[in-house]
Amino acid sequence: MIGGGGGAFIANPHQKAIHFDGTRRVTSVALHPNPEIAMNEANQWPYPVKGYTSYDEMFADQANLPEDEKLDYVLIVTPNFVHFDPAMKALELGIPVLCEKPLTTNLELADQLVAKAKEKNVPFAVAHTYLGHWTSWFMRHVVTSGLLGEVRWVDSYYIQGWLADKLEDAGQMQAEWRTDPKKAGGSGCGGDIGTHAMMQLRFVTGLEIDRVSARLEKFVPGRPIDDHFTVYGELSNGGKCLVRASQVCIGHLNDLGIMVAGTKGAMKWRQEEPEKVTILLQGQPDRTYWRGAVAANDGFLGDVPDWLLGEPTIPAGHGEGFHDAFARLHREFEKTVRAYKAGEAWECDGSRYANIDDGRKGLAFIDACLKSDEADGAWQPVS
Ligand SMILES: NC(=O)c1ccc[n+]([C@@H]2O[C@H](COP(=O)([O-])OP(=O)(O)OC[C@H]3O[C@@H](n4cnc5c(N)ncnc54)[C@H](O)[C@@H]3O)[C@@H](O)[C@H]2O)c1
Repeated sequence: MIGGGGGAFIANPHQKAIHFDGTRRVTSVALHPNPEIAMNEANQWPYPVKGYTSYDEMFADQANLPEDEKLDYVLIVTPNFVHFDPAMKALELGIPVLCEKPLTTNLELADQLVAKAKEKNVPFAVAHTYLGHWTSWFMRHVVTSGLLGEVRWVDSYYIQGWLADKLEDAGQMQAEWRTDPKKAGGSGCGGDIGTHAMMQLRFVTGLEIDRVSARLEKFVPGRPIDDHFTVYGELSNGGKCLVRASQVCIGHLNDLGIMVAGTKGAMKWRQEEPEKVTILLQGQPDRTYWRGAVAANDGFLGDVPDWLLGEPTIPAGHGEGFHDAFARLHREFEKTVRAYKAGEAWECDGSRYANIDDGRKGLAFIDACLKSDEADGAWQPVS
């Protein structure tokens, strides 16, 4: 694990998710840029782990180990500007990477990582957490089964309010780097959570966003980077979409959701109630599916594959949530990594978790949005 010391946020849910299935554990940590803090915190880990003063020291150690003693994969949970360097170093050594999103701070660096991952043929996942909800897989099944008809319109959103005040001036660690373009990348809100909304749209619908017209706002005075992000887009099937994100909408916590409208019906989901998917067909009552209702399929859903029905890890009525989504991501990546390490055929095709091409697509989307915003909202292609 690279990053995670000094009161970090997302390292903690990852740590829980890693240990979720009993088949993985954190073995080595480079927790902080300050070597003393890194080692102190490594020594306080709940069980013995190998602590390193830096990730460079960790990789130097790895380079000398026989293949079967190397790390199975590296988890990168550092701020955005500390993704590229450790990811590149891991790939050079042939070590698979699970990297936090967004993949890098700009498209050029993302392209370099993609090229290296392909050259070395090493598995690479990007932590788009919400794809790990069982319901995200279910929604993908509903759209691809044709129940909603052809997709006409998608509204995908991630609305927060925690940056409505200038927390970065109060020394809040997570706010400081997220509002600094050198550390976060060219788009603040868009890169941080707009990419989650965009990835949710791509995963659930299987469609790409081909062109964008974007507005990036800076509502909090003196902030050098967007805290509100609104994108109108054209989908690869000719449909249209809205991808919107905000960090200044007071009262909204992690209000991520999606609405898909097709020629036959629509579907709604919100991650704050992640087990609930509502399907609406013309002239029919709303149907809200929880796990039990999917399993007891009344025929309305058509054939729901057994692998999908078997996916939830706990009987219906006991809630799955954020940690389960993270655990599913690690579980699926573990399968890929085990096959890779055994020299077997492995897949990293984006159907179970975001891969490096998906991560790059996130940066291509942000790049197009920045260009569009600079050109007063003019349409820009997403490469
Ligand atoms: N997938 C999600 O749902 C999700 C949610 C939150 C954050 N994130 C992403 O996770 C990453 C971290 O976000 P966060 O909110 O946890 O940030 P954070 O500021 O809470 O934690 C960052 C950690 O990185 C460490 N770090 C920084 N430079 C380092 C270096 N050179 N070597 C070792 N450690 C170093 C810090 O000490 C800290 O432990 C970001 O890329 C963010 O976009 C993803």
